[in-house]
Amino acid sequence: MNAALDPTDFRDAMARFASGVTVVTTRDSGGKAVGFTASAFSSLSLDPPLLLVCLQKDADCYAAFMEAEQFGVSILAQGQSPIALRFATKAIDKWDGTPSAPGSATGIPLIDGAAACLECRVHSRADGGDHTILIGEVLTADTNGREPLLHFNRAFGRFVEDGGS
Ligand SMILES: Cc1cc2nc3c(=O)[nH]c(=O)nc-3n(C[C@H](O)[C@H](O)[C@H](O)COP(=O)(O)O)c2cc1C
Repeated sequence: MNAALDPTDFRDAMARFASGVTVVTTRDSGGKAVGFTASAFSSLSLDPPLLLVCLQKDADCYAAFMEAEQFGVSILAQGQSPIALRFATKAIDKWDGTPSAPGSATGIPLIDGAAACLECRVHSRADGGDHTILIGEVLTADTNGREPLLHFNRAFGRFVEDGGS
């Protein structure tokens, strides 16, 4: 850690960055569905179509994502904060009570009612300190017109258009 940087200052500054909220899913080598809530998610490239998500190395699902050849991203909709919290909670059955359906290209479960769902083939992985950056080549991308769930200042909320004043 940079001695000049207080980690709390870093965290507090990053908490001022509003983002969407995703649930990233895959299957482990035994076929069991796993997933985690992620806000460190971004579009990366249009041609080829790439996206990225950052996964902490101490996540229970880490090994599954290191072995997986495919993964899914569900961009959560307004009202889905309970699902965001569920997929951020360790050592529970995250799928219990979470409606999902297999993606058409990969069969990986995607969250029902999400604002958008994408399926990816793993393009590459890059080291990112205590995280690994998963880069996915997008195979399918579907939207349903729902408003997104947002995350800002450690709370969930919704989008309000800026009137400019
Ligand atoms: C709003 C929110 C955003 C999060 N974003 C990320 C993220 O981008 N990357 C990550 O690795 N963990 C993130 N987490 C934490 C993981 O979802 C959580 O540690 C999860 O339980 C890890 O998976 P595991 O249960 O398999 O260990 C986030 C949690 C919340 C509540």
